[in-house]
Amino acid sequence: MTQRYGEHTRAVGLSRDDRSVGVPMRIPVYRASTYAFENSQEYAESLYGGGRYSYARIDSPNSDAFAAAVAALEGGRLDREVHGQGFASGMAAISTALLALTRAGAHVVASRALYGNTYKLLDVLLRRFGVDVDFVDITDAAAVRAAVRPETALVYTETLSNPSMLVSDLPALAAVAREADTLLVVDSTFASPVVCRPLEHGADVVLHSATKYLGGHSDATGGVAVARPDLMDRIREARVDLGPHLAADEAFLLHRGLETLPLRMARQCATAAEFAAAMLRHPAVARVDHPSLPGHQGHELARKLFDAGPEGTRYGAVVTVTPHGGRDAGTAFADGLRLATIAPSLGGTHTIVSHAASTTHRQMPDEALRAAGIEPGAVRFSIGLEDPADLIADALRALDELPVKE
Ligand SMILES: Cc1ncc(COP(=O)(O)O)c(C=O)c1O
Repeated sequence: MTQRYGEHTRAVGLSRDDRSVGVPMRIPVYRASTYAFENSQEYAESLYGGGRYSYARIDSPNSDAFAAAVAALEGGRLDREVHGQGFASGMAAISTALLALTRAGAHVVASRALYGNTYKLLDVLLRRFGVDVDFVDITDAAAVRAAVRPETALVYTETLSNPSMLVSDLPALAAVAREADTLLVVDSTFASPVVCRPLEHGADVVLHSATKYLGGHSDATGGVAVARPDLMDRIREARVDLGPHLAADEAFLLHRGLETLPLRMARQCATAAEFAAAMLRHPAVARVDHPSLPGHQGHELARKLFDAGPEGTRYGAVVTVTPHGGRDAGTAFADGLRLATIAPSLGGTHTIVSHAASTTHRQMPDEALRAAGIEPGAVRFSIGLEDPADLIADALRALDELPVKE
């Protein structure tokens, strides 16, 4: 920009990088909310699928690259095309997909065992807009079939439920959805595509809180949806209107995290299985929820549906431990841990714990908690990358120190 312009004009001069800089190993962070065009026609064409980026709420290179990478992980073994879209959070992906796929007068059949905010979104907000919701025991395919009506727009579940780790029988639910000519929408946050890929089992839409395992480092918030192109177009249209797109910086971090997802997830799952078995043996423990345990509802299903590596079947990396003694014992157990950190969220490299009834599931009344199989004393462990022996020793010590033993 030449000296003929005034100071303010020069200060805001376009900082376009026209140099040839070679091919960067990583997609740079496109920190631009808006993109420049040579002329009005180019700009206008970009708004009708002209293949150019125009405005970051609509699409952005970092979000697209991240979502395409997740779509490749979720759908890479399918013989059909699937697309992905990035969102500002897991809840942004979930709420946008639900709004895109329902309308006033529609009906949803949903699992009773859902993440608290998803439960509330369905139970309160969507009802306000005339969507009727039935919460059912998702492990009972007959109950799901009985709940479906002609106006059912979708069946909604989580691959692994939060925090009781119930395993959804995805092929059975997909069969119910197909018979009823409706959609199966699956939040697969707790599984990640390294444990299970719901599209391979007949699901129509897969949603993730990318904040968790996909990003994996507790440093970025985001969500992602993956589905066949026509469904993804509907979801994208709603996203553009609602506005919850994934920001470029977050997309960059989530995309970087994705590169180590298989390594992290395999190790975290193996540690979780070891941790669950050790917890079950302690006399202060009333119940352990993890599908690796032969007595767990999802043990056999997980062996059928989930991936296995050299370390064995991947049963997920969240373990819920309920000590004897109710709510007080649960909070005392969580507070007594030194290695695991009390914090929201899950799926990061550090082990994180939360007392479910007072935190993640606080929106659910006691009755709904019980129906979802969550005890008032349940403590959810998101197992990280620490040495298994250290994690186990810390938890056993905290259990030893509980006043109530059985
Ligand atoms: C299973 C599940 N789905 C969705 C969400 C929401 O994700 P976010 O916090 O990224 O909006 C969470 C968050 O904890 C979750 O556990």
